[in-house]
Amino acid sequence: MFGSIDDVQEALRGRGYIADRGLATSIYLSLRLGKPLLLEGEAGVGKTEVAKTISALLDTELIRLQCYEGLDVNHAVYEWNYAKQMLEIRLLELEGFNRDRAIAEIFSRDFLIARPLLQAVDYTLEHEGERPVLLIDEVDRADEEFEAFLLELLSDFQITVPEIGTIRAARPPVVIITSNRTRELHDALKRRCLYYWIDYPSIEKEEQIILTRLPEAPSRLAAQISRFMHELRRLDLYKVPGVAETLDWAAALTALHQSELRSEVVDATLGAILKHQEDVARVNGPTARRLIASLPGDE
Ligand SMILES: Nc1ncnc2c1ncn2[C@@H]1O[C@H](COP(=O)(O)OP(=O)(O)O)[C@@H](O)[C@H]1O
Ligand SMILES: [Mg+2]
Repeated sequence: MFGSIDDVQEALRGRGYIADRGLATSIYLSLRLGKPLLLEGEAGVGKTEVAKTISALLDTELIRLQCYEGLDVNHAVYEWNYAKQMLEIRLLELEGFNRDRAIAEIFSRDFLIARPLLQAVDYTLEHEGERPVLLIDEVDRADEEFEAFLLELLSDFQITVPEIGTIRAARPPVVIITSNRTRELHDALKRRCLYYWIDYPSIEKEEQIILTRLPEAPSRLAAQISRFMHELRRLDLYKVPGVAETLDWAAALTALHQSELRSEVVDATLGAILKHQEDVARVNGPTARRLIASLPGDE
């Protein structure tokens, strides 16, 4: 699909995603080698968006498994549709089926609810030769048991349902795993994947992101916001803002018809980028003024 790393970078940009060369290389290799891509980084640096953009580029389905504490097989892989099974069993009884036949009937594919991991396997079977993008989002939130299960799945893409048998993917899906690194992942999982750390963007990159995502933002404003954010992230904050916050702020300031950063407006809109009162109090007033004063002036 992509002839080179440059092609990947260009295609992503065409879909509004600005990727460093390193990230574009990892994506290229992941697609090329059919290896899962593990993306780590702080919240809001663009990890989830990578998967969305790749599925748009490949014109394929995005199947997302959002991880959380206590995520189990019922929610990740499959679940029996109890209500439907109960109804069916009533009907079968009325029709005079015996118990064994009824049980065989209700533990079949028709009564299985496919959750994301089984959906991904099914997709490859239903769309010949096509691969969906399987996004396993924020895997660090799931417990280690689930990680071990995932490891097994990633090695062969087959799922065993005891009552039915083994369902094997026709091709491995494109797998993107993200982690906010609230805990370390197992080496075994990392070993199976290509790894890339997405850092907060450089000033230039963030400026490009603003201009790409928000073309109506004045260019001087975009340049100032990205410098301001860069400096802001160096302060000792409780919660460092990500790119999502930068974009919210740029949208807010644009909506307020601002073409550059002015301290009263900055103070009034800090809530777009800082979500803890301690951080707002820390930046509001003198600190914000100092940051604005340090921005390069007009040439
Ligand atoms: N490199 C980038 N290019 C374009 N948009 C980006 C980029 N990085 C982040 N964004 C935007 O920032 C927001 C947050 O990104 P997201 O992927 O949800 O972050 P994460 O999953 O790392 O928490 C999204 O609206 C996304 O479109
Ligand atoms: Mg995310």
